[in-house]
Amino acid sequence: RVLRIGLIPGDGIGREVIPAGRRVLEALPASLGLKFDFVDLHAGFETFEKTGAALPDKTVEVLKNECDGALFGAVSSPSTAVKGYSSPIVALRKRLDLYANVRPVKTVLSAQNPIDMVIVRENTEDLYVKEEKTYDGPDGKVAEAIKRISYRASSRIATMAGEIALRREKIRKAGVPSIHKGPLVTITHKSNVLSQTDGLFRATCREALAADQFAGRVEVEEQIVDSMVYKLFRQPEAYDVIVAPNLYGDILSDGAAALVGSLGLVPSANVGEGFAIGEPCHGSAPDIMGQGIANPIATLRSTALMLEFLNEEDAAAKIYAAVDANLEEGKLLSPDLGGKAKTDQVVEDILRRL
Ligand code: NAI
Ligand code: MG
Repeated sequence: RVLRIGLIPGDGIGREVIPAGRRVLEALPASLGLKFDFVDLHAGFETFEKTGAALPDKTVEVLKNECDGALFGAVSSPSTAVKGYSSPIVALRKRLDLYANVRPVKTVLSAQNPIDMVIVRENTEDLYVKEEKTYDGPDGKVAEAIKRISYRASSRIATMAGEIALRREKIRKAGVPSIHKGPLVTITHKSNVLSQTDGLFRATCREALAADQFAGRVEVEEQIVDSMVYKLFRQPEAYDVIVAPNLYGDILSDGAAALVGSLGLVPSANVGEGFAIGEPCHGSAPDIMGQGIANPIATLRSTALMLEFLNEEDAAAKIYAAVDANLEEGKLLSPDLGGKAKTDQVVEDILRRL
């Protein structure tokens, strides 16, 4: 199988870590029967300054018409609004209907409180439909926002969470150790207060996860979002897959990322029907760019995550296992993890383990 992968380094350390993603794909063992074809694509602030568009139409067209998946580095966003500039990753999610944001958070298993979870966040609706208005009420200004939850979006995100839970099981069986015994999905909501919107989310997730493909194979739990935050910090090992509406998912996924020590470790994927973009969670890190010390692991894990959504679990498992082994040994770590290794040394150690 030949997979065509779009490479969008973007700005700053995006350009130092995306090449690592490419190298790891090229180094996968031939026995997997996978070949890769790469196409370099532009987006980001520098692209905006050069061309007037942060996300050139060509980038979107090539991704849509030619690519199986993509890797996106990071983009710099100016801290004050610049006329005509808006975030290319937000635009990409819309234009390619990447309706899910998936963020695994994992520590080494020998850590004191080992964590191995993935947060699956609905990415198209909820309060982020941005339908807000401000008006004068009898006692002064009032602002309101719409929280929209649909059956369709809730159902497809829950189905994706169930599929991810089953796939993680396969990856564990392919030799990536985990703290979990079996697939578990936790639905998060606040339907005790928002009985209609979060009530619909909860009921729809329950229904989707009761489908034949999951029944008896995926355990389903639910938890109110505020108590989930508490438990996330007290007992993070309790979670395998979490499915959440957009706003709660946004907050939980950053909170969970904080549990592992460095942004340089945390991957994500933006996923739609038959397409996935792997993207490290960190930004363009202007404070360390150009020094060759960016941690490539967030990107390598994002690369593996992209492969999962292209149904290449075995290839993904190889990358996860190599990354985990590098971290577990702890000899070649980048400075954000307290080590002295350069980006390239970390990458080479992981390639060797592949
Ligand atoms: P940041 O994630 O770029 O950096 C935060 C801190 O983490 C910095 O000290 C940085 O050196 C460190 N860090 C991040 N990634 C690292 C890695 N791979 N290895 C080692 N250390 C790493 O967030 P910040 O500083 O708030 O934003 C910088 C720029 O990035 C801004 O222009 C912001 O708009 C943009 N940004 C873009 C994102 C994206 O493209 N999805 C996400 C977050 C920020
Ligand atoms: Mg966020």
